[in-house]
Amino acid sequence: MSLKNKLITITGAASGIGLSTARLLARRGALLSIADYNPSNLAKASSELSSLTTVYSQTVDIRSTSDIASWLSKTRSHFGDRTIDGCANIAGFHPLWAPKNIEEITDEEFEETIQINTVGLFKCLRAQLASSPEVLTTPGASIVNIGSVSGLIGFAGDSAYVASKHAAHGLTKCVSKEAGKRGIRVNCIAPGQTNTPMVQVMVQGKGTLPLPNLSLGREGQPEEIAEAVAWLLGGESGYVTGTTLRVDGGMLE
Ligand SMILES: NC(=O)c1ccc[n+]([C@@H]2O[C@H](COP(=O)([O-])OP(=O)(O)OC[C@H]3O[C@@H](n4cnc5c(N)ncnc54)[C@H](O)[C@@H]3O)[C@@H](O)[C@H]2O)c1
Repeated sequence: MSLKNKLITITGAASGIGLSTARLLARRGALLSIADYNPSNLAKASSELSSLTTVYSQTVDIRSTSDIASWLSKTRSHFGDRTIDGCANIAGFHPLWAPKNIEEITDEEFEETIQINTVGLFKCLRAQLASSPEVLTTPGASIVNIGSVSGLIGFAGDSAYVASKHAAHGLTKCVSKEAGKRGIRVNCIAPGQTNTPMVQVMVQGKGTLPLPNLSLGREGQPEEIAEAVAWLLGGESGYVTGTTLRVDGGMLE
């Protein structure tokens, strides 16, 4: 399935991996519905992408069930009441500027991270997979969640984020089994350290981030993660579901 004229939703589209994914999909002719909880960055992204394709944008906090329902409903009506061909669930949050062992992490830091990276993803998936009214094109739709190598490995000083991303990987596995019966694929990407504003903020706090056992010896670029998202959204990956694709420069444990 070419992505041309396919209707794709993207959360976290105002920055980093989400914005790079939106740019790539737009260049490939997809129709986009983009969401983020940062309205000013979202407006800038929407204005840039509109020169490439048809874009609907809405400020959405993925922690809010009603924000998500309104976004998906308005997306469908904006594009002539059609169903959605693919969803890139990319929005995410890292709470720490610098590592903190568990005894130093506050309730607020832990809970906000879980609320966005786990509960927010759960709410997106639940709304996207609703069958009445049917939101996704069945069969054939594809959902791509962004997990992390932190969803596969434990890192000292990063419990909240690591726990939230392990849960994202678990959600992907369960939901892929449920959605497969309807011909919908659900996969997860585990990026390694990628050069985005999220990491740039953390680097400011720590001076540098370690790149443990990294075969390629460099961090990734958001465009490299976007390529993997596009592959999993498209028909070229039609027999792939329930998997976690590491795009991490070879972070071998
Ligand atoms: N950059 C990395 O090294 C790296 C590595 C592994 C995984 N990831 C994951 O990739 C995804 C994208 O991260 P990024 O590096 O591009 O970061 P980023 O901070 O550049 O972009 C994240 C975007 O998500 C949005 N967002 C955050 N919380 C939201 C919410 N509640 N509702 C709606 N939008 C929200 C932010 O406003 C921002 O625009 C995240 O899920 C992140 O955890 C990043």
